[in-house]
Amino acid sequence: MENRVIKIGIAGLGTVGSGVLNLLKKNNEEISKRSGFEIKIECISASDKTKKRDCDISGLRFYSDPLEMIDKESIDILVELIGGETTAKDLVIKALKNNIHVVSANKALVALHGNEISKISNHNNSDIYYEASVAGAVPIIRIIRESLNANDINWIAGIINGTTNYILTEMLKSKKDFNMVLKEAQDLGYAEADPSFDVGGIDAAHKLTILSSLCFGIPLDFNSIHVEGIEDIELDDLNYARELGYSIKHLAIGRKNKDGIELRVHSCLIPEKRLLANVDGVKNAVVVSSDAAGPTLYYGAGAGSLATASSVASDIIDIGRKIISKSSNSIPFLSYHNDELKNKRILDINEIVSRYYLRIRVTNKPGVLADITKIFGKKSISIESILQKEDLINDTNVPIVLVTHEVLEKNIIDALKDIENLEVVKGKIVKIRIEELDS
Ligand code: NDP
Ligand code: HSE
Repeated sequence: MENRVIKIGIAGLGTVGSGVLNLLKKNNEEISKRSGFEIKIECISASDKTKKRDCDISGLRFYSDPLEMIDKESIDILVELIGGETTAKDLVIKALKNNIHVVSANKALVALHGNEISKISNHNNSDIYYEASVAGAVPIIRIIRESLNANDINWIAGIINGTTNYILTEMLKSKKDFNMVLKEAQDLGYAEADPSFDVGGIDAAHKLTILSSLCFGIPLDFNSIHVEGIEDIELDDLNYARELGYSIKHLAIGRKNKDGIELRVHSCLIPEKRLLANVDGVKNAVVVSSDAAGPTLYYGAGAGSLATASSVASDIIDIGRKIISKSSNSIPFLSYHNDELKNKRILDINEIVSRYYLRIRVTNKPGVLADITKIFGKKSISIESILQKEDLINDTNVPIVLVTHEVLEKNIIDALKDIENLEVVKGKIVKIRIEELDS
């Protein structure tokens, strides 16, 4: 084989960056046998040169300022693994303008600034690949852009945040408290620098912003996503859901319907028989339902050092192949050609129709249930089932668990406002949508 070399610089040597260094070293031979070239790490950047790292950086030129690295080094590809929207954005734009291709795992950057970055990339004929930004090791972006590109995609639903899935799984399995499990997820390198992005659903919303553009041909618009996190979910809800035959998962959903597109990120009850209901721990899974292929499912590690590095490395190899073969990129940044990306009507959350799981804490006395069902009756909301739980610790207040038939979100919100005003109702009602994921 001819000695061909692709020169890269890596900015960010944390969980993902160190994984990329380790993977490129470990599988160096396999990679060059498959790609036909050698990937040579020329230079690296991180904040603190003296920090102890999970990878060997000896012999590599180090920069504490990644922008300086771009100015001084001659590289083919910049690998951006810093995260966030400040330095990372300046860096990526500078690299693209300097005709350096970019690989990034940064979903916040793509979701919030991808429209602008894509124009700069096109203008300068330099590519940006971002497979690792959604679902870690699962090659969902490649699947949508390259494998399902003859399909009209109807809906997509996925568990796309490893941290929240890990928390929900461990809370139920080991009965550990929320904060303790979150700390474990942070120690394992799964969480974002600010873990409220995971727990509050923002990270999943960044990812759904990207997926919805790829699936539905709309420009990136983070603000169009309805975002809820997992903060309100308690161990009781996970147990009651199980009694009802469901698992609670934090889902990202994009669905075309006759009035527009639903884009939402929130916890859901999913029937236990669905594959998504059985995706546990840091694993992610995405179902894409399209007209020709039908529903297809993609599953694997959603976060973590080597798992994410696998996707980053595959992007480096893809761009390297194009550089070596001197071919230009024929895959549009967001699957559709830029001038074909069109705004479409996005439904407000009040317009969606769903079944609901409700947990209502009430004073334990006769007639309470009748007061509640009367309000539902007035709003034409019909109840499918009721579980009245005895609370052994505090039997003056007991939880009632209700499952509704399908109802417009606006109507359930109105009803819950009235119910929360009843004197016998204590605290906030927990409301979780139920997703059948069957059509
Ligand atoms: P880490 O926090 O572990 O690492 C961030 C790295 O960036 C550190 O090495 C840090 O330096 C360096 N850094 C921070 N600021 C600067 C700066 N101004 N100049 C130079 N270097 C800087 O993050 P992750 O590795 O977890 O995440 C990186 C990216 O990958 C993020 O966009 C994240 O969303 C994404 N991602 C993460 C996954 C995961 O499993 N963790 C999975 C998929 C995507 P130092 O080490 O010296 O502090
Ligand atoms: N914090 C993210 C998660 C990392 O937990 O899924 C992977 O994108």
